[in-house]
Amino acid sequence: MKNIYPIFNNMLSKEEKERQLHQRGVTLWFTGLSGSGKSTIAVALERRLALQGVLCKVLDGDNIRSGINSDLSFSDMDREENIRRTAEICKLFNDTGIVTIAAFVSPNAYLRALARSIIGEGNIMEIYISTPLAECERRDVKGLYAKARQGGITDFTGISARFEEPKSADISIDTTNRSVESCVDEIMNRIASRVVYELQY
Ligand code: ADX
Repeated sequence: MKNIYPIFNNMLSKEEKERQLHQRGVTLWFTGLSGSGKSTIAVALERRLALQGVLCKVLDGDNIRSGINSDLSFSDMDREENIRRTAEICKLFNDTGIVTIAAFVSPNAYLRALARSIIGEGNIMEIYISTPLAECERRDVKGLYAKARQGGITDFTGISARFEEPKSADISIDTTNRSVESCVDEIMNRIASRVVYELQY
């Protein structure tokens, strides 16, 4: 069959862009309860990687849901659409050679597998921020747990909606009694070989 889009054959490939940026376009996918520390660590990790010259993009539930996904609720169907669109965005960044750091509750294996299938097995590392519910609720940074306990938020993950623990995350970190920097140190050690260009080619 005649290729009616021949111009796409001339697009620069992921590999060419990775060579240009001297880094690998991978996604670091953070999962965990609200308040577990995902976004805090994601942002600190981006800063640390930037010091090494690695260009990243942080995507998190709160910022994505206030923009491109502002039409979505927390029903099962909308959470799936939230993760599907986010994973497609991660893939676009990865295809541009950029490291994407995604921080989403992504509360069950089905959603995390969906992200993995879109992003591609070789391009994703799963990081489970396993801070227990009691600690997340004690912190209650956004006041959402208190609201959920009073019945003010339906389907709140950990309270009235289930969080299914990942069984085979690449990295698991409980942030209770740990500094952000020590968590970032641990993650940096574990991801270096996946992100750094020189070690791959
Ligand atoms: S996900 O389940 O679809 O992956 P996402 O990470 O985008 O969730 O958004 C989670 C954030 O939305 C939480 O950190 C919290 O601030 C807020 N939030 C508001 N309502 C809920 C809810 N019902 N369940 C979980 N998080 C909620």
